[in-house]
Amino acid sequence: MTADRILDRLDQLARDATLEAAERWHARAEALDWIDRVWPVLAHDAEAGAAARAQALRQRLELADAMLHRRLRAAVRANHGPAVFRRWQQEAGLIDGEGYDALDELLAGVLRLADPGPDSRPLEPEMVFYQPTPARHALDMLVRSGVGPRDVLVDLGSGLGHVPMLASLCTGARAIGVEWQPSHADAARRAARRLKLERVEFLVQDARDADLSRGTVFFLYTPFLGTVLRDVLDALRREGMRRPIRVCTFGPCTRIVGDEAWLHTDGPTTADRVAVFRCVGQGSG
Ligand SMILES: C[S@@+](CC[C@H](N)C(=O)[O-])C[C@H]1O[C@@H](n2cnc3c(N)ncnc32)[C@H](O)[C@@H]1O
Repeated sequence: MTADRILDRLDQLARDATLEAAERWHARAEALDWIDRVWPVLAHDAEAGAAARAQALRQRLELADAMLHRRLRAAVRANHGPAVFRRWQQEAGLIDGEGYDALDELLAGVLRLADPGPDSRPLEPEMVFYQPTPARHALDMLVRSGVGPRDVLVDLGSGLGHVPMLASLCTGARAIGVEWQPSHADAARRAARRLKLERVEFLVQDARDADLSRGTVFFLYTPFLGTVLRDVLDALRREGMRRPIRVCTFGPCTRIVGDEAWLHTDGPTTADRVAVFRCVGQGSG
C-alpha cells in the first residue's frame, strides 16, 4: 500500500465514529491490526503528524475496548455469562484453523489473562508448553459436547485457565483446571477470583496424578504426548468404564485419542477442529 493510500485509510478510520460502538469490537481489532502493520510507513515515510494521528486513533479504539471489557466483566460477575456467551458464539466466525483472531483478544481482555512469563518449573520430556486454545474452538467444544450446569469439565493441562473459566461462565458448569506450572495455575486462580467464578478451581498437579472421579467432560489441547498421554488415557478409560464421560481433544493428540477402541465419535477428527469423543455404547458424539 502506498503512503497516500495509507493516509486516506487513516483519515477514513479517524472519521468513523461508529468504530467506538461496543459491538464493533471486530472492526476495532482489524483497525488496530492495520495500524500495527502500516506503522513503519506512518512513523517514517508519511507526512508529518500522521504517526500522531494514528496514535490518537489507537488510543480511542483501545479505550473503547477497555470499556467493553469492563462492561462484560460486570455482566459475568452478575451471572449474565450465558447471554454474553450466546453473542460470542454468534460472532465467533470461521472455525477451522489454529490461528487466533479478534475473539481471542476480546476474551483475554475480559478475563484479564496475564502474560505467563517464564516457566516456573521445567517441563519434563513429552510435556507440551503453554499455548491457548483459540476461543472459537473452545466455544465450539462447549456447544458440541453439550456441557451444561450439571457437568464438571476438567481441562488436563489448563495453562492460564481460559477454557475452565469460559466453560463455567458460559454454561454454569463446574470446571477444574489441572496444570503442571504453578505460575500458570496461580495466574488462572487470580483471574477466576476477580470474575467471582466460584465454580472454577485450579490444581497444580501432574495430570497423571489427578483425581478424575469428579469429571464428566475432559478436555485436552495436546498437553502431553507419548507415555504421559498413554497413562492419562488409561486413567480416563478406567473412568469411562464406570460411568459415561466425554473426552474432547484439540491439536495433534486427536489422532492418537481417535485410535482408542473404547472411544468413538461421529464428528470431525482433524487436528484443527475440536473432536468430541464418547465412550463406546454411549450414543453419538
Ligand atoms: C497446549 S497447552 C494447553 C492449555 C489449555 N488447555 C488451553 O487449551 O488453553 C498445554 C498445557 O499443559 C501443561 N502440561 C504439560 N504437561 C502436563 C502434565 N503432565 N500435567 C499437567 N499439565 C501439563 C503445560 O504446562 C501447558 O500449560
